Amino acid sequence: MASASASSAGIPPSVFTLPHTAQLEALYTIIRDKDTSRGDFLFYSDRIIRLLVEEGLNHLPVLPKTVQTPTGATYEGVGFEGKICGVSILRAGEAMEAGLREVCRSVRIGKILIQRDEETAQAKLFYSKLPPDIEKRYVLLLDPMLATGGSAIKAVEVLKEHGVPEERIIFVNLIASPEGLKNFCTKYPTTKVITGWIDEGLNEKAYIIPGLGDFGERRSQLS
Ligand code: URA
Repeated sequence: MASASASSAGIPPSVFTLPHTAQLEALYTIIRDKDTSRGDFLFYSDRIIRLLVEEGLNHLPVLPKTVQTPTGATYEGVGFEGKICGVSILRAGEAMEAGLREVCRSVRIGKILIQRDEETAQAKLFYSKLPPDIEKRYVLLLDPMLATGGSAIKAVEVLKEHGVPEERIIFVNLIASPEGLKNFCTKYPTTKVITGWIDEGLNEKAYIIPGLGDFGERRSQLS
């Protein structure tokens, strides 16, 4: 099923949500439930990540490609236009790497660590390791929760400094806040955002409401 552009709901046209089927809503209900065990949280959040990665790949450009089939016939199909890579925003984004590897064989994956600078309260780059030819690739930027948008905005800034045009970045997340989407899309209107669900907003601690709590903690908790 095709993804929906969320523009009709006052959300920027570069934002695409997964189709809100009953199945998807059931998956989100499991991962949002505070009583869901760690094992189930891992399993069901991985299922959603897989759907999101597949949807992200739907937005990559293709070119006509003709092949010969074993029957001797000609098939006029398409092939991806360029190479891709993933970049996860540490630490939570690392949880999305396996989902990308499942669908893209031998995909290169870079990492960016961004944290809040306690003095300036701004998002600050602490570490990055990116594929050396990243400027030639389409980049799937991975971070599960788009809250204020500060980390994602900084991550795109870093990618741009490494030569990646913003229209070649596809930002993939599980849950987005309207505030985060607005901040991110105002800054980078040509970067596509693929999200599973747009929630109501942020609380005073910048957690997404209703959200699912702390994504990293939910995946690592002992229960
Ligand atoms: N990060 C999380 O893990 N959860 C939120 O609600 C916001 C940011």
